[in-house]
Amino acid sequence: MLNLSMKPTGWFQIGWSQEIPSGSVKPLKYFGHDLVAFRSDDGELAVLDAHCHHLGAHLGHGGKVKGDCVACPYHGWQWNTRGENALIPYQDQPVRKKLRKWDIVEQHGIIFMWHDPAGGPPREGWLPDVFDHPEKPANPGDYYPCYPDAVVFAPNERIHPQLMTENAADTMHFRFAHNAPEDPVLLSFDTDGPIWEAKTGFRSKATKEVAMVLYARNAGVGLNMSIFDHPVLARRLVLTCTPVDDDTSDLRVSYFFQRDARSPEVMPEHVREMARQTRTLFEEDAVIWRHQKFVQRPIFAKADVAGYSALRNWCAQFYEATGVPQGPMKVLDA
Ligand code: FES
Ligand SMILES: [Fe+2]
Repeated sequence: MLNLSMKPTGWFQIGWSQEIPSGSVKPLKYFGHDLVAFRSDDGELAVLDAHCHHLGAHLGHGGKVKGDCVACPYHGWQWNTRGENALIPYQDQPVRKKLRKWDIVEQHGIIFMWHDPAGGPPREGWLPDVFDHPEKPANPGDYYPCYPDAVVFAPNERIHPQLMTENAADTMHFRFAHNAPEDPVLLSFDTDGPIWEAKTGFRSKATKEVAMVLYARNAGVGLNMSIFDHPVLARRLVLTCTPVDDDTSDLRVSYFFQRDARSPEVMPEHVREMARQTRTLFEEDAVIWRHQKFVQRPIFAKADVAGYSALRNWCAQFYEATGVPQGPMKVLDA
C-alpha cells in the first residue's frame, strides 16, 4: 500500500472572484494552511496566512477591510495586501513583520493560487487560459460569465486531484459513466512541458464520423481546461480539484457558454437549463472518484495503455517536491 501526496505543485482554483467583492473578507483552507482572502476597497485581492502575528487570531473570522488592509478582529492590528503590518492602533509604529502572501491570479472570474510545497515562486507557462488556446482562440466577451449561473461547487470531497486529471486520457468511460452512444477516440496528445494537451473525437451515432472534438489541457494535477468544438454544444469549461488538507479536496466546474444574440446580457432559459445539467454530468464522474482507490499499477486494456501510461508519467513531475507518491491517499499497489 502506497500513498499519493496531497501537496502537488501548480496553480489551483480557490474560488470565484465574485465571492469576494471589494471590502470583504473570507476564510479559506487549502493544502493544510489556514488562509484569509480579502479584497481592498480599491478592488485588489490578497491571500495571506490567516493567523495574526500578534496573538494568533484568524483574520478571516471577523476581520474587516480598512482601505488596503485587513484589520484583526481581536486587537485591530492591520495587515496590508503585501502581508505587512501597517498599523497597531494603540502604538506609534507598526512592527516589521509580515504574514506570508500567496501568489494569486484572477482569470475570467476564477481565482487561482500557486502552490509549491518547496516554497518556490510561480513558474512561467504553468497556467493556461481557457480562451487563449493555440488552435481555438476566442474572445471572452462573446461568452456569458460563468459565475454564478454556470458553476458547480463540491466542497470537502474525499477525492484526489489526480483522479480527475486522469479522466483526460480516459476514452472508455464515456459509454459507461456518461451514457455516450459511441466510444470517443483519443486523436492526439502532447506531454511536452507542464501543460498536457489532448484532442478527443466524438463520433456521430448515425455516420460514425467524428462530429465533435474536445480540446483538453491539463495544467498540473488539479486543473483541466476543455473546449467542446461543436455548432450547438459549443462550450468551454474549467474543471478544478484543490486539496484542502490531507484527506479532502474542493472541486469546482466553471462553464462558459456562448452569448445568444437574442439575449446577450441575460443568460436565457435554454442556456440556464444546460448549466443546470452540468451538475448531473459532474456527478456522473464524482460518484466514481469519491469511492475510487488509486491503483498504482493498473491492469490496462489495450485501448487504455498509450494515453494512461503517458499521463501517469507526465503527472509525476508535479510531485517532485515531496518525492513520488507519499501522503494520505490510499493506493492499491496491484
Ligand atoms: S491577535 Fe490580532 S491584533 Fe491581537
Ligand atoms: Fe467523465
